[in-house]
Amino acid sequence: MTSDLVKYIAARKKELNAVILAHYYQLPEIQDNADFVGDSLQLARKAAETDAEVIVCCGVHFMAESAKILNPSKTVLIPEVKAGCPMADMVTADKLRKMKEKHKDARVVCYVNSSAEVKAESDICCTSSNAVQVVNSIPEGTEIIFVPDRNLGAYVAGQTGRKIILWEGFCPVHDVVTSEEIEEQKKKHPEAKIVVHPECPPEVTAMADAVRSTAGILKYVKESKDREFIIGTEEGFLYTLTKNCPDKTFYLARNNFICHDMKTITLENLALALEKRQYEVEISEDIRKKASHALERMIALG
Ligand code: 13P
Ligand code: SF4
Repeated sequence: MTSDLVKYIAARKKELNAVILAHYYQLPEIQDNADFVGDSLQLARKAAETDAEVIVCCGVHFMAESAKILNPSKTVLIPEVKAGCPMADMVTADKLRKMKEKHKDARVVCYVNSSAEVKAESDICCTSSNAVQVVNSIPEGTEIIFVPDRNLGAYVAGQTGRKIILWEGFCPVHDVVTSEEIEEQKKKHPEAKIVVHPECPPEVTAMADAVRSTAGILKYVKESKDREFIIGTEEGFLYTLTKNCPDKTFYLARNNFICHDMKTITLENLALALEKRQYEVEISEDIRKKASHALERMIALG
């Protein structure tokens, strides 16, 4: 029964001195039983500063890996070992090294949606909430390679005016939203503001009233005087938005806006993760150290 699982999770969490961190795309029942819900930057920050012995990451693998990279003395668990990010798999350390060979003076900015090995080959990480700030921190005139999201990379190039070498990676969940789908929603809800994630394609970000990370979207709608919003990101986030702004109305930009990897985390496997201390994230110390430079440089920007 759900209430038994919830009680077990709370009790076992105390026993282990564990903290449960959840991403905004998690199922409502996971968000409700987490100690902290946030976007990938907020989760990385929380993981870096926690005193808990065990960090349970309800998100996808790169998020759990970032927690381990930033706070290596802790046990980091992910409740479902198959919870990956298809975009993160679109760049490998090997392919990145080949690209770096061709652009010897370039700096590599690596979206946090990437493996520890790729972070280890990068100069600095970014998330969707600080990508513009990260790119602006690189001296003018320096060549920049941006991996792996071509859409976020193109958006940042437009915002900063910097010349960026893009990688051909994309998020299969955000990349499929079309301008026609947004127009259709706008026709149905003419008063609604369009707010989208920068992983959406350029023709979609170009027609939006605001382009923000998940935490940025939440802030935008909280502060806005408008009442209706067309939201261009994963459907789990509508739960967060409605919970935080019950007097506002949200429409998903398209049907079927689902990251199935995020949805593999359930109360059942969260309880099992706590019971059996599984699945533990492990990274070789060599890779972890190198990857931590890129992540810590990002965190230091504030
Ligand atoms: P945020 O940084 O906005 O949490 O995005 C992470 C992500 O995976 C979006 O698809
Ligand atoms: Fe990866 Fe896209 Fe899922 Fe985010 S929504 S975790 S980028 S596949």
